[in-house]
Amino acid sequence: MRQRVSGKKGPGHLISVLMRWGLTAGSLGALLCAGMLGLFLSTPVAVEAQDFTNPLHGNPEAIEKGYKLFHRYCSICHGTRGKGAKGPNLQDEVWTWGGADTDVFATIVAGRPGTPMGAFGARVQPMDIWSIIAYLRTEYKGALHNAREKGVLTVCAMPNQLPASDKSSPGGFDVALAEEIAGRMGLKTQYFWAKSRRGVLGALSLSLVQKRCDMFMGVPVQPEPIDRVILTDPYFGTGYTLVRNEEASEVQDVMELADRTTAVPLKSQGERILLQAGYSCRPFASSHDALQAVQKGDLEVALVPALEMDWWLQNRPDSTIKPVEGYVSDPNLLWNVAIGVRKNDYDLRETLNGVLSDLAAEQQVPKLMSEYGVSYTPPWSEDRS
Ligand code: HEC
Repeated sequence: MRQRVSGKKGPGHLISVLMRWGLTAGSLGALLCAGMLGLFLSTPVAVEAQDFTNPLHGNPEAIEKGYKLFHRYCSICHGTRGKGAKGPNLQDEVWTWGGADTDVFATIVAGRPGTPMGAFGARVQPMDIWSIIAYLRTEYKGALHNAREKGVLTVCAMPNQLPASDKSSPGGFDVALAEEIAGRMGLKTQYFWAKSRRGVLGALSLSLVQKRCDMFMGVPVQPEPIDRVILTDPYFGTGYTLVRNEEASEVQDVMELADRTTAVPLKSQGERILLQAGYSCRPFASSHDALQAVQKGDLEVALVPALEMDWWLQNRPDSTIKPVEGYVSDPNLLWNVAIGVRKNDYDLRETLNGVLSDLAAEQQVPKLMSEYGVSYTPPWSEDRS
């Protein structure tokens, strides 16, 4: 099980743990006043629940049996190995009726009335239907299959996101990580730079979902599933951090922001949380500008993403602004970061999870991040005991 750290040293921030997605900003205000954040130190993080529901997934005997059943009942319409004939291709990721195990199960049991796809529930036992699905998954020709065939893994990342990713060279720690992953899979890389005014979710739907790449680096793990995307295990945890200049040396945590105006990036989650909790803040066009204002002494404190603060300090060794030690972040301002792949690319996700866990065991992610002056925080764990 992953370990969580409760704080760390170095140029980085010190986020003293814990997160709970469910905590609302309104209740946050109340909590801050009551000084009761500590009560929530042992509550769980929501994780993405999107896995195989097929009890026979990966079972070699079931796959063998499924192969035979498929050829008895299905290949007449769906072609040998399900590559398509009168009926649609079942090897690809295009699903009219949904490609999740439960969708495919429902299609086979009840058929799709009004189409030539009949109901097999009366002829084929439920466990045999699961066998057919277990077999079909082995024929699936998705991103992993295609990448191996070409010898190239196509990576999506956002440009202008240093220290995480950028078109220019060196390209950021996410790009370094993508190179490392592809290398371990024996593949070369190519990149598709995904940009959107709607942030990372917009970029995902314009790139990964449109099959412009096989995987998307640096996706924040959300409480809600992302449309048509599934995520690997997270490879680091991050969040907002509170930064102060020398004049605000007595600021210890967010509660003391009540009598100050805090610099925040415009329309950021940090701004939203502070406003909802009733604090005064001044929005800036970017984290960079917010930090600049604190450095110049226009404002005493800023609330910005930790990665952006680390990067800012990395490029200004003589800066006098500092992260507030011991700052306890609002749970809504902490998140994990993972790699996104298209829904149905379970096999690619499994492979990536394997590589990520090797990299974690070798401490590779902290190493790549430190090359960009960013301190590493392990993914926030659901298991806080
Ligand atoms: C008589 C021809 C026929 C047979 C036999 C048949 N299918 Fe189909 N199947 C179809 C057609 C045609 C469709 C497309 C239905 C539509 O969306 O118009 C379909 C759709 C499907 C879908 C949904 C695909 C999607 O895009 O969502 C699945 C899954 C499927 N079949 C599995 C099977 C399996 C498994 C068997 C054997 C147990 C089987 N079919 C037997 C003709 C057939």
